[in-house]
This record gives sequence, structure tokens and C-alpha cells, in this order.
Amino acid sequence: MIEENYAVRAVNLEKHFPVSSGGFFNRNQQVVKAVDGVSLEISKAETLGLAGESGCGKTTTSKLLLNLYPLTGGKAYCNGVDISTLKGKDLKSFRRNAQMIFQDPYESLNPRFNVRVTLEEPLIIHKMGDEAERHQRIISIMNEVGLKPAEQFLERFPHELSGGQRQRVAIARALILEPDFLIADEPVSMLDLSIRAGILKLLQKLIEKKQIAGLCVSHDLSLLRYLCKRTAIMYLGRIVETGPTESLIQKRYHPYTEALLDAVPHPDPDKKYCLDKIKGEIPSASNIPEGCRFSSRCFKAMEICFHQPPRPVVVDENHWVECHLYMSNRS
Ligand SMILES: Nc1ncnc2c1ncn2[C@@H]1O[C@H](COP(=O)(O)OP(=O)(O)OP(=O)(O)O)[C@@H](O)[C@H]1O
Ligand code: SF4
Ligand SMILES: [Mg+2]
Repeated sequence: MIEENYAVRAVNLEKHFPVSSGGFFNRNQQVVKAVDGVSLEISKAETLGLAGESGCGKTTTSKLLLNLYPLTGGKAYCNGVDISTLKGKDLKSFRRNAQMIFQDPYESLNPRFNVRVTLEEPLIIHKMGDEAERHQRIISIMNEVGLKPAEQFLERFPHELSGGQRQRVAIARALILEPDFLIADEPVSMLDLSIRAGILKLLQKLIEKKQIAGLCVSHDLSLLRYLCKRTAIMYLGRIVETGPTESLIQKRYHPYTEALLDAVPHPDPDKKYCLDKIKGEIPSASNIPEGCRFSSRCFKAMEICFHQPPRPVVVDENHWVECHLYMSNRS
């Protein structure tokens, strides 16, 4: 164990999936570099945003931070402990302390469990409290997530709840174990626009109140602006910019961040999305461009970008960018 200020720290995380392509007799073994050198830190009582296009590696990074996949490379620490070394009681305690809220509450809840059983199950697994104490805890967390009066919801099954109520149950299930690390992976993207703000406000309130270290994953920067003081931008397996969310949005250092911000729908419904800055689709994670991985789509690419990967450069306080535009020492 090492002493440190961060609740969560990842150093050079890698997850490479071997995949086969081609016919039965002509199989090629390829490697999908879903996560390819990700470093990040999250302090206690801080929520870091993680944004990027579909397929850039956000969920895989989240799963690595929760020790749900073995690492191809790098290290992940939680409260100073290398999580890949955890076994037995320590691993069980980590599983209790690190929770995840998934994108689709319908998929993450067991359709055969009513709300009471859904919320009691983790308490039983982790041997927390007797029956009366568990009941108290369930009622109290249901009140906190706005499922009240609790008695009205306790016996309902997922199909008897609205999408927003289901996501509240999923949040309650994640928080009932009082975790100190919480990952919310696209927590509102499956919900109607009209109920997104309510769920986000709830998440923000609970994370602050309980002083949790949070990671909020989304492709929508406007959502992260609301929830996270600091955000990391991910592209094709790597974080290309990290900084205070406001500074990142105002200053638009990395061309990919700029393109992502311009891809947000315009508030005026008559105006179209501004997607023209990004050329084509995100390349395959099994065929990453040489040099800067964004070079095949970057509207600011220079000659050097096509053969030399950029190094991270500090551009402002607590703000760094991986791009040749900011490397004073170009070679
Ligand atoms: N088990 C797996 N085996 C092989 N490839 C995988 C596996 N899981 C993910 N990938 C690939 O890794 C890359 C990153 O996937 P990931 O799900 O982490 O992306 P994401 O950023 O969460 O995308 P989305 O926004 O669509 O949820 C993708 O190319 C995906 O196809
Ligand atoms: S390094 Fe070059 S290609 Fe990559 S983002 Fe910067 S300008 Fe664009
Ligand atoms: Mg995902």
C-alpha cells in the first residue's frame, strides 16, 4: 500500500482484446486496443467526467477501474492499494466499496426481483445488519433517492416502474452499501429528456453529501459540465485532454475536444448539428493510426502528426493536452 491523496489512481492502463477475423479456415488474430495507456486520478468527494465518442473505451476503462477485467498493462489503485493484488476478504470489501450504475436500468435490474429484494440482496451478500436494520436501511435509501413513500414501491417489479424510477432503484442499489467510489456509465442516456435533469441533480446531491469519489461517463459534454468540475476527453483508447470542465469547454485546446463541443446539438432546433469538423468515423481500435491517433480526422493535422505520437503538455493549471500544437520542443 502507498500513501496518496487520490481515492482512485490509474497509471498507463491497457486493455487489449484478442479477436479473430476471417473465415473458419482463414482466421487472423487481431488485437483490439480498447484502452491503450490511460492515466487518471480522482480525489475523494470529486467527480471526474469521462467523455468521448462511442467505442473510444469509456466502459472498458470503467471496468478496469473496478477490477472487472484483468489488465493487459498498467496499474489501478484505490485508496493506495493496487487492486489487481486483491484477494478473498479484501477483494470482497473492494467490491462493496466500488459500485457502478449502468446505462440501462432495465438491464441492470433483475426482472424477478422486486424493489425490496433488489435492495436487500447486496446487504445480505455483504452481511450488513440484521433483518430490521436492513429494512431501515432500505427505507432510508429509498427516501434519499426520491422513491417515496417507500411502501408504495417496495413490492414493485422493474416492469411496474417508469424508466426514471428504475434508474433511481439502480442508484439506490449502488449506494446502499455506502461505497467510496462510484462509476455512473451514461446514467441518463436511456431516459426521457424531461426526467434527465432530476436524476442528474439527485446523483450530484448524493455524491456531494456522501463524499464519494465519482467517475461519470458520457458522450455528452453539456451533461458533464453540470455534474463534474474536472473532465477527461478520451479518443481511441487514450485520454487526450484533462482539465477543469469549464476551462476545457471555454478554451477548446485539443482539436478533438473542439470538434466534440461543436457536435453538440444547437439549442435552436432550426440549426443543424455542427459535425463538419470531424472527418469520417472513429477508426477501428484494432487499426490505430500511426503518430497521433486523431490524425486521420483532425482538421489541424500537421506533417509531424502522421508519424510521431504527441506527448502530454501542461497548458494551464491542472490542465493538460496531448497534441503537437502545444509541444514547444517539436522534433
Ligand atoms: N470483450 C470485448 N472483446 C473485444 N472487443 C471489445 C470488448 N469490449 C469492448 N471491445 C471493443 O473495445 C472498444 C471500446 O469499447 P467500449 O465499450 O469501452 O467503448 P465505449 O466508449 O464505452 O462506447 P459506448 O459509448 O458505445 O458505450 C470498442 O472497439 C469495442 O468494440
Ligand atoms: S497532434 Fe496533430 S493530429 Fe493530433 S490532435 Fe494535435 S494537431 Fe491534430
Ligand atoms: Mg460504453
